[in-house]
Amino acid sequence: MASLEFDAVSKSYDQQHWTLRDLSFTVSDGEFLVLVGPSGCGKTTALRMLAGFEDISQGEIRIGGVRINETPPRERDIAMVFQNYALYPHMTVADNIGYGLKVRGMAKAERRARVVKTAEMLGLSAELDRKPSQLSGGQRQRVAMGRAIVREPQAFLMDEPLSNLDARLRVRMRTEIARLQRDLNVTTVYVTHDQVEAMTMADRVAVMNGGLLQQLDTPQRIYAHPANLFVATFIGSPAMNILKADLSKRDDQVWCKVGDYSFPLPASTLNANPGIRAALGTTIAIGVRPNAVTVTGGQYPNGLPGEVRIAEGLGSEVLAHIEVAASRVETEAASEAPDLPLGHTDTSIIVASLKEESLIARGERVTLTFDSEHIHFFDPQTGASLRSGAATAPSSAPTLADLSTAVQAAGAERVV
Ligand SMILES: Nc1ncnc2c1ncn2[C@@H]1O[C@H](COP(=O)(O)OP(=O)(O)OP(=O)(O)O)[C@@H](O)[C@H]1O
Ligand SMILES: [Mg+2]
Repeated sequence: MASLEFDAVSKSYDQQHWTLRDLSFTVSDGEFLVLVGPSGCGKTTALRMLAGFEDISQGEIRIGGVRINETPPRERDIAMVFQNYALYPHMTVADNIGYGLKVRGMAKAERRARVVKTAEMLGLSAELDRKPSQLSGGQRQRVAMGRAIVREPQAFLMDEPLSNLDARLRVRMRTEIARLQRDLNVTTVYVTHDQVEAMTMADRVAVMNGGLLQQLDTPQRIYAHPANLFVATFIGSPAMNILKADLSKRDDQVWCKVGDYSFPLPASTLNANPGIRAALGTTIAIGVRPNAVTVTGGQYPNGLPGEVRIAEGLGSEVLAHIEVAASRVETEAASEAPDLPLGHTDTSIIVASLKEESLIARGERVTLTFDSEHIHFFDPQTGASLRSGAATAPSSAPTLADLSTAVQAAGAERVV
């Protein structure tokens, strides 16, 4: 087991664009870190650099404190589980699991003992003599896991290992993998674009976008205190509602105004979000999760009036899509969410999650209110949270001008 460190790591494939920029984080010994982000944000690239399948353009990667930039993949003592499992079709399950040990020259008896022990751990004992084609998707996935586990490596790297499974099996396997990782206590980096997978499996989650690390923290803290608009809208389903809000000061009170709905912000909110005072007199972005929107039937002045456009019954809750007269903020992550075509730009759809018995129906007129304790406040330009101590995305990423020298330097180092 070992810690893994990315120290200001950048990657360019074409010497013109950065695929990863200034990536720095440490995975502690035995920790389960999940890298999550939209397609193309650089997750696989980060993992492949760690495994040694991809050159590092700039920066340093350390395993157990030792720089491994120039270490060949086989000498890094880490095992990777791929999305497509990469099983050998003509070999039995036992041979697939034991293959890595065989090529490393381990004696047959010891190999067999390790394979049997690993298969037991994974519930594959009865399948050892079968071929991959005779296995279910979940069993193939376990064989791929077994191949990594049997080597007893310093770290596991897993790239979307569950994406080929159906939804039900995925949920079961994610619990199994998380349990197995905790039992074995092997440092693990797990890549997924599924934020639910990330939130349920990880000790800590690293949220990435556009080659930049956006936030790295425990699932609970990422959900409760997203560092910026990207994280706020990427994590959580259904996505956080983001609206424009005007901040002003009147009668010694700070007021937040969304559409025609004004509400005072208590001292506790101002203390938790020091950025609010600096933003008085300007328009900011506020975020309210669907479960923090209070919906009351009928329309009255002390709230945001709206009309229910869609009511989706999900069994345990109803998701009400409510049109309100307030301006929305376009965000990258939210733009992927299904939305309703809107007649004009100064109306928004707010999604509220309601208890089933509230029986909200399409066309109903309602009033929305927000509890300021549950509102997130953001700078609309940078997207950064106005909370105290909120980490922001790195602002000093290397520029394109640094790129050619960096690539040359990396090349020169390899020759040595
Ligand atoms: N071998 C390569 N040569 C050139 N560009 C590449 C190569 N591999 C990846 N890229 C580019 O780098 C960017 C990041 O790719 P990467 O595979 O790391 O993303 P990802 O986060 O794993 O995405 P996904 O969720 O779709 O798997 C993409 O724009 C991709 O096109
Ligand atoms: Mg990928």
